[in-house]
Amino acid sequence: MQQFGIRPEEPKDWWEVEALYDLCFAPGREALSSYRLRDDVPPVSGLSMVARDGQGILAGAIRFWPVHVGAHDALLLGPVAVHPTHQGEGLGGYLIREGIEAGRAKGWERVMLVGDAPYYSRFGFARLEGVEMPPPTNPDRVLGLDLAPGAWQGTGGEVTRWTR
Ligand SMILES: CC(C)(COP(=O)(O)OP(=O)(O)OC[C@H]1O[C@@H](n2cnc3c(N)ncnc32)[C@H](O)[C@@H]1OP(=O)(O)O)[C@@H](O)C(=O)NCCC(=O)NCCS
Repeated sequence: MQQFGIRPEEPKDWWEVEALYDLCFAPGREALSSYRLRDDVPPVSGLSMVARDGQGILAGAIRFWPVHVGAHDALLLGPVAVHPTHQGEGLGGYLIREGIEAGRAKGWERVMLVGDAPYYSRFGFARLEGVEMPPPTNPDRVLGLDLAPGAWQGTGGEVTRWTR
């Protein structure tokens, strides 16, 4: 990842990151139920990152939000996106691994996301049983990873917007 400058996202990056997400995701992405968990809640400070190429052009970005799962706290990974001209170079994987490790270092015990199991299984994500995203969400796409041993064991219920 030496060809990229990777830094925590700053407020001035916000709209550029939004434009990258608009480019990489299908139109109407903000209608997805996961966005209802992000409305009016700031991303977790220090975990969201931007990657810029040698010319300073945004190549990739990842954000994390806090959520509640039943009575527990969890990180919600995403959105993560890599510009089409840089996909398949390992940047997405790098941002995901770095973000997860930063979350662990900050004391978060579990991380979840809504996404493609064939991609995210390589990072250790597996289907979460009994964790209910706001509808409509395909339960097969609700995936989780322990950041502390056994953290998802016995954790279930509705995923709700952060209230602290
Ligand atoms: C998904 C995404 C972030 C991955 O970033 P990336 O930098 O291209 O990924 P990496 O280079 O780390 O990994 C590439 C590998 O992931 C695979 N991959 C990418 N998306 C995949 C998916 N949805 N399902 C299965 N495999 C996937 C590629 O085929 C490639 O496989 P290989 O290692 O066997 O060659 C990027 O492709 C992207 O922005 N896609 C559009 C937005 C999106 O779908 N975001 C994820 C939301 S769930």
